[in-house]
Amino acid sequence: PISEIYKDDIIVNSSITVCGWIRSRRNSKSGFSFITIYDGSCFYSIQVIANNSLSNYYKEILHLTIGCSVIVTGMLILSLGNQQKYEIQATEIKILGWVENPDTYPISAKKHSIEYLRDVAHLRARTNLIGVIVRIRNHVLQALHYFLQKNNYYWVPTPIITSLNTEGAGAMFRVSTLDMQNIPKNQDGSVDFKKDFFGKESFLTVSGQLNIETYACALSRVYTFGPTFRAENSNTSRHLSEFWMLEVESAFTNLDDMSDFIEHMLKYVFKSLLKNCMPDINFLKNYIDNDIIIRLKKNLCMEFVRIDYLDAINILLNSKIKFEKSVFLGVDLASEHERFLVEKHFKIPVIIKNYPKELKAFYMRLNDDKKTVAAIDLLVPNIGELIGGSQREERLSMLDERLLELGLKKEDYWWYRDLRRYGTVPHSGFGMGFERLISYVTGVSNIRDIIPFPRTVKNSHF
Ligand code: 4AD
Ligand code: MG
Repeated sequence: PISEIYKDDIIVNSSITVCGWIRSRRNSKSGFSFITIYDGSCFYSIQVIANNSLSNYYKEILHLTIGCSVIVTGMLILSLGNQQKYEIQATEIKILGWVENPDTYPISAKKHSIEYLRDVAHLRARTNLIGVIVRIRNHVLQALHYFLQKNNYYWVPTPIITSLNTEGAGAMFRVSTLDMQNIPKNQDGSVDFKKDFFGKESFLTVSGQLNIETYACALSRVYTFGPTFRAENSNTSRHLSEFWMLEVESAFTNLDDMSDFIEHMLKYVFKSLLKNCMPDINFLKNYIDNDIIIRLKKNLCMEFVRIDYLDAINILLNSKIKFEKSVFLGVDLASEHERFLVEKHFKIPVIIKNYPKELKAFYMRLNDDKKTVAAIDLLVPNIGELIGGSQREERLSMLDERLLELGLKKEDYWWYRDLRRYGTVPHSGFGMGFERLISYVTGVSNIRDIIPFPRTVKNSHF
């Protein structure tokens, strides 16, 4: 891979073979062709010098166009020009694949809009931009795993197919093996899900939280990372129907411990990116977001803001801004409110805590005021909500009260209640949308460009 060339121990003036695709080619008048080849293994490409002594120079090399795939063998030398560090003096160039009708190649040399690239999603990985995003995505995941493991967290997989509706809000994707033409019915006409594969209604998971709580109450510190599904009909730049979520759960912790942990974790990721991904980040700086480096560094050296929901409401009321959705105590903060707080008011990540219980799920721990729950949302500029979490209700009687209030059946949560019946402990956790994190660190504002195969409502590319 080309990435090996840019490592410190590469030996120049040695023979080398490189496989890749052509990014550009130009001819010099004196019987040379300069070909730039990339293979996606790193941001850099490599320049190959082909001269007319190569046997296929006139028949093939002069006809190479962008996107053709080749194997080049030659000598790696220090470049004479100052555009690049190395180049390859080719002794052989084998063509693996031509590009049919170069004029109609969808990923031609010109700069394409990010929206256009979505229409050619099967080819867009060949562009610099998508390559950068995927490499950064890969690096951030590695950094997160490393950070969690170093802090004694174990990775526990959770089910993709489940009967749990953890968040209790929003539509879910049903999974069923019932014959659509001949659906078994109960006497009252409702669908008889007892005849279905699992003997009850099943869905694609919206969160693995309730599952990993069982492991946090045994191994103390655990996390899960996997695809998560929401059949929300939201056509926004921050919602996917299939996204990846990191969920962390820790026994013997409260909300403040979790807030500290979140801040350390994110700062570790930002630092790791600045240390390891500079070629990719520099590209984003020039192409997408001038302030990317300043932003990452600012996040590193400033403390995240932590305020109560109540303070957030007061700031919004005092702002004198006429929001579309009016602000009052008890309102579910809308994206416009969140964005005002984080982009106009504080301009750095903000953790909002202690929300009214009516706005949050059944499992969150009731505060002493009996009105709010120990919940947190982390908001970041340009994205809004990046993380949602809480201290969990570990007191059985309180949990039962909440289930009753919300009209949820105790029996359905029998195993979840068992955790509170046998050696219950305070515990807390959070979920972070992985694509939203990558969107934040790259400055690429639509998460459809962050996930390789975006799944959204009525989207049929894949
Ligand atoms: O706030 P949410 O719904 O929280 C939970 O699911 C909790 N059970 C997590 C936990 O405490 N273990 O989702 C968590 C995060 C959000 O903050 C957001 O970043 C992301 O998941 N998210 C989405 N990302 C992309 N597309 C969507 N449709 C998303 N819905 C939520
Ligand atoms: Mg949330």
